[in-house]
Amino acid sequence: MSRRRNLGILGAAFATAALITPRAATAADTPPTFTKDIAPIFQEKCEACHRPNSIAPMSLVTYEDARPWARSIRTRVEARQMPPWDIDRTVGIQKFKNDRSLSDDQVQTIVRWIDAGAPKGDAKDMPAPKHWPEEQGWYYASMFGQAGPDLVIKSTPWTQKSGANDTWWRPVVMTGITEPRWVRAIEIRPGSVKGRKITHHAIARLEQQEDNPLFAVSDDPTLAAQGGTFMEWAVGKQGELMRPNSGKLMLPGSKIHWDIHYSNGGEDVTDIVELGVYFYPKGQEPKYRQVLHLMGGTNAAGVDIPPNAVKQTEGFFVMRENGRVESFQPHMHLRGKAMEMTAILPTGQVQVLSKVSNFNFNWMTSYFYADDVAPLLPKGTILKITAWHDNTSSNKNNPDPNVWVGYGDRTVDEMAHAWVNVTYMGDADFKTELDARRALKGKSTQQQQQQQ
Ligand code: HEC
Repeated sequence: MSRRRNLGILGAAFATAALITPRAATAADTPPTFTKDIAPIFQEKCEACHRPNSIAPMSLVTYEDARPWARSIRTRVEARQMPPWDIDRTVGIQKFKNDRSLSDDQVQTIVRWIDAGAPKGDAKDMPAPKHWPEEQGWYYASMFGQAGPDLVIKSTPWTQKSGANDTWWRPVVMTGITEPRWVRAIEIRPGSVKGRKITHHAIARLEQQEDNPLFAVSDDPTLAAQGGTFMEWAVGKQGELMRPNSGKLMLPGSKIHWDIHYSNGGEDVTDIVELGVYFYPKGQEPKYRQVLHLMGGTNAAGVDIPPNAVKQTEGFFVMRENGRVESFQPHMHLRGKAMEMTAILPTGQVQVLSKVSNFNFNWMTSYFYADDVAPLLPKGTILKITAWHDNTSSNKNNPDPNVWVGYGDRTVDEMAHAWVNVTYMGDADFKTELDARRALKGKSTQQQQQQQ
């Protein structure tokens, strides 16, 4: 709060100085240039998608690539629509492992650059080009000293025609495993380099029979049958490495439900998506099991949205064991507006963990909490998922505000749940984790005090 105010005063001071002595430019008010200030930001935060042969419609690698898009960049960046990251910055936990958003300073730098006429700057300031692998590799293979994953599960092929509408491709494939196996890492990749141009997003859900209700995907048996998200892939995301000593368990008879979002690649492309799975060696079982739960929206009848109305739905999930909440992934469709995850502790105390307030159906992001802030919650905690749907004409993604919308699989139907990853632990381990967290917090307050 006070930081923002300071910036305001500083900004005003610059404006006044510029009025009085327009020529006496100091380092602080020299407009940012592409080569010196903008290219490093674009390399870090945009090129993953905005480069040749990737998912975004234009490259932002060179000045010549980026310059024609200046106006659009200003709008998207200032509104925080780009890079896609919809976490509300005013409530809940703010530290994530996979944060791809721009800092306030970076947004300001980009806006100032464009307002100054988007100057190129000195060629010698340009950073070395960022290296993006052009070949198809498996990210974790070398880390584990392997040639590839232990198991590769492929979706069935889809041909995305040039200029065709976006498609959601949902094949179901057996995993083929014959004994229970513990998973230590997973990664997803399009089947070919060309496939990256059309593969907007892919979700692989693991469906299997769970006997212990603690590990069931959902409290609602009809939804539990859907199976939990095994992994979600979006451009720029490498994969998911389990924390030390934890893993996901895959059972015989399991299936992968694919949910792949293909978009227009400007030419006909046929491709598959591959899920690479790395197992813990047999006999080296991890201590903790991670489960991806479907929370909220579990009462399908609750999603009942009248025409021209805004509707709120709530769903509750009781934690049957102590656990660490690892991630939050809201799932709604075109009328989805916002979603919040709140913890109601056994003491009755309520904590907002996360909120997405400008939900965008095109970006099904999983927000992964950083290690030192992932909530540690005692058994008996209730996780409450609140979803807001906007079925009015003010929602620009709304295909038709004059129809009633109910629960369903099609994009014109609605859903109101979150995928939440929980690592379960018994009382003794939970206490150890809590103590470690308190020690960490104590240390950082001490450091702050020393710095003051
Ligand atoms: C995760 C992938 C991803 C990242 C990261 C990303 N973009 Fe995008 N961007 C896209 C896609 C896909 C589109 C096209 C769909 C859309 O408009 O939302 C797009 C569209 C845009 C547009 C709109 C172009 C138009 O049609 O006017 C702008 C501007 C933009 N991005 C700027 C940026 C900037 C600047 C950054 C980095 C600060 C960035 N993007 C980071 C994927 C990404």
